[in-house]
Amino acid sequence: MSQHFKQDIVIIGAGAAGLTLALELADTHRVAILTKADIREGSTLYAQGGVAAVLSDKDTVDSHIRDTIDAGVELGDPEAIRFTVEHSKASIDWLIDQGVPFTRYGSGDEYHLTKEGGHSHRRIIHSADATGRAISKTLIKNALNHPNIQFFPDRVAIDVVTTTKLGIPGESRAIGVYALNLENDSIEVFSGNHITLACGGSSKVYLYTSNPDTASGDGIAMAWRAGCRVANMEFNQFHPTCLYDAKAKTFLISEAVRGEGGKLLLPDGSSFMHKFDPRGELAPRDIVARAIDHEMKRLGINHVMLDISHKDEHFIKEHFPNIYKLCLEYGHDITKKPIPVVPAAHYTCGGVVVDQHSATDVAHLYAIGETAYTGLHGANRLASNSLLECVVYARSAAEKILNSKAAELDISIPDWDESKVTDSDEDVVIAHNWQELRRFMWDYVGIVRTDKRLLRAKHRVDLLHSEIQEFYANYKISSDLLELRNLAVVAHLIIKSAMSRKESRGLHFTLDYPEKLPNSQPTILTPKQ
Ligand code: FAD
Ligand code: SIN
Repeated sequence: MSQHFKQDIVIIGAGAAGLTLALELADTHRVAILTKADIREGSTLYAQGGVAAVLSDKDTVDSHIRDTIDAGVELGDPEAIRFTVEHSKASIDWLIDQGVPFTRYGSGDEYHLTKEGGHSHRRIIHSADATGRAISKTLIKNALNHPNIQFFPDRVAIDVVTTTKLGIPGESRAIGVYALNLENDSIEVFSGNHITLACGGSSKVYLYTSNPDTASGDGIAMAWRAGCRVANMEFNQFHPTCLYDAKAKTFLISEAVRGEGGKLLLPDGSSFMHKFDPRGELAPRDIVARAIDHEMKRLGINHVMLDISHKDEHFIKEHFPNIYKLCLEYGHDITKKPIPVVPAAHYTCGGVVVDQHSATDVAHLYAIGETAYTGLHGANRLASNSLLECVVYARSAAEKILNSKAAELDISIPDWDESKVTDSDEDVVIAHNWQELRRFMWDYVGIVRTDKRLLRAKHRVDLLHSEIQEFYANYKISSDLLELRNLAVVAHLIIKSAMSRKESRGLHFTLDYPEKLPNSQPTILTPKQ
């Protein structure tokens, strides 16, 4: 028998998006937050550079809008971009009110603003070089202190329960979620009047990624299976600079390092970015990552170098204390020498199609944060626009939920049926499929694509799909199987979207269609009912 929990609101995910929504609703609603690991774990915890917002009187809303449109190579939705940027200051004020300790200039009151690629002004508010940790710590503390918020860690949400899936006629409406409790391997049922997917992105579909293990695209896959449209999955962002060191699994070197003067160099010490873009190191990420990839392939090298050592030692240690410390642990002193860096999968620009209030195609189902496609990023996300989007759209979802008059449906969700499955004795197959999927996505669907490579990847993912389905139908589920199943869905969506785009734009670059088309639209995929 499954254990059942009932709250007003069920939120899957405790990153910046999920926590913001929870805190906005908790004064009037009982909120359950599920996390698949420890409540802190997720991309938010690791965010470094900061949050983009129009905060200086030298900056303007129009300038931030222009930079977002340019970075997104004209594919962003102008309404979503304007909406986000116009709400940027209020969102930062909200974070400050929550107690997030952003860095100030010296001992004064004014907040320090840094710069990152693609921004024409200093507009990134930050907490030294660990902004995500400051946001996560503050919001989690506030959520833990709120009597109406209950955390359920170590629960892997499996699927959203909708009225359609239960065979109830009429408009499909979300009423709950099944989740695997990792502490006792049981499957629990969480029901609520509003269900929100705040599960982060899917960069773990690639072999090398800056993301933590939570980023397996669960929210996107669950929404797809629930009947929601998904958009722009071909645009997966590769961050240009992750530390290249076998011992450091996935350590990002913030773009703010380049924002404060860091230079990209080849092994002979020569700089190269100016050959690719007049903005050099501060060109948008797609351009910088592609330039590095090009130079690595041209010279047959495993990495390029990033150098900030020409800056004052005190300045480096003050602005980048964590990056300095961690690099030093691996034997790289950033104050003295250039460090080896490579691009890695970093951010999912596409996701579940939502409206301005984060509502998906299924009634009472919301998607926020990196899981969602709001239209903000277009073909490439502007640096530090992601945490901003998390807060803006979570607050907008809260506004809609707070005004919602719809009563909860009186439907009891059936227990999870495990009567026809047995224990798997083939975990090694799951592990092998995991490796294979992430490897072929890296090799064939990475920074530079071709039709042939995409087709190869498609054949492999189709095969994996059928194997995974067989596993899912016959064996007891495990968290590895659930993640693999979701990664296979996400891989399929990325490949299908990439195959349908017959041009190169932003993060989607293909040797078969190297030019931009004059008129281009977002790629929107609709699930079969
Ligand atoms: P996350 O913070 O990723 O949280 C996801 C949550 O969902 C977790 O709690 C996880 O446990 C839960 N979850 C997932 N699947 C399930 C499931 N099946 N069941 C239960 N729970 C589930 N952006 C910026 O704007 N500025 C930056 O400076 C910046 N730096 C970054 C640095 C790094 C190293 C990385 C990886 C990202 C960075 N980003 C940055 C991107 C940004 O951090 C993320 O896009 C953002 O934090 C995503 O927040 P989120 O709330 O959507 O999801
Ligand atoms: C970084 O600090 O470089 C990450 C910023 C981002 O992903 O927006």
